[in-house]
Amino acid sequence: MFLSVSIAFFCFASGVLTNSLITPCKVNDLVCVDKSIKGAIPKILVGIPELGVESSDPIFVDQIDGNLSIIKYKFFNTTITGFKNCEISNFKLNEDITAIKYDLNCPKISLIGKYEVSGRLIVLPVEGSGDFQLITGKYSIHVDSELKKGTGSDGKTHISIKNFKLKSKALSPIKFDFKNLFNGQKDLSDAVHKFANENWFEVSELVQEPTWNACIKKVTTNVNKYLKNVALEDIVLQ
Ligand SMILES: *[C@@H]1O[C@H](CO)[C@@H](O)[C@H](O)[C@H]1NC(C)=O
Ligand SMILES: *[C@@H]1O[C@H](CO)[C@@H](O)[C@H](O)[C@H]1NC(C)=O
Repeated sequence: MFLSVSIAFFCFASGVLTNSLITPCKVNDLVCVDKSIKGAIPKILVGIPELGVESSDPIFVDQIDGNLSIIKYKFFNTTITGFKNCEISNFKLNEDITAIKYDLNCPKISLIGKYEVSGRLIVLPVEGSGDFQLITGKYSIHVDSELKKGTGSDGKTHISIKNFKLKSKALSPIKFDFKNLFNGQKDLSDAVHKFANENWFEVSELVQEPTWNACIKKVTTNVNKYLKNVALEDIVLQ
């Protein structure tokens, strides 16, 4: 009795949520798809505890490995804030629902955690470990994903995001704050901060990829948890 009531309640709750989040559209109705996605994504990013969808703002990542050729860095226990304020533009869904592309336009993303770094920051040697904080200005993240169709536990077809490729670009200055560089030697640390703050674009191009990959991976996991609750036939009109 209790079980059937709670199942009924869950179905009711998820039905209401899915209906209110993704407005059904014809795949080729670009205006409808665009509006529907732009309406749904911010709510998914905030998180939907009833459906097991974690918040994407803030995101917590245990470890980010920046294993690059001239500089190696690791970020530990990083909290990333700001994704819910990113706007989506240029959203494109292909007609057979196997791929999506969009741009995330983020006004500001902040990362705070612990770091380890060793290597060359373009021209300057850099070495250290401690607390760090990074605050970006405007950032554009272009996301290119393949989608996968599968049968859910309800016997209906569901889509999920199978993978993604990113092209990111910093559009305004980034503030770098890495405590305890060179074991706290102030002159060396100041020189690296001055260089990074002045050359924020080149520095971001060098180091950004592993960090954004880790963030978008978390966001993708959260979006996929939501998509498990939505049958394709309920959001795609024939
Ligand atoms: C880092 O990259 C090098 C090649 O550039 C590779 O040999 C090494 O195994 C990588 N380390 C980790 C921890 O992924
Ligand atoms: C990250 O957090 C965990 C759990 O609180 C802790 O055990 C670990 O030492 C932290 N890592 C670093 C590098 O501070």
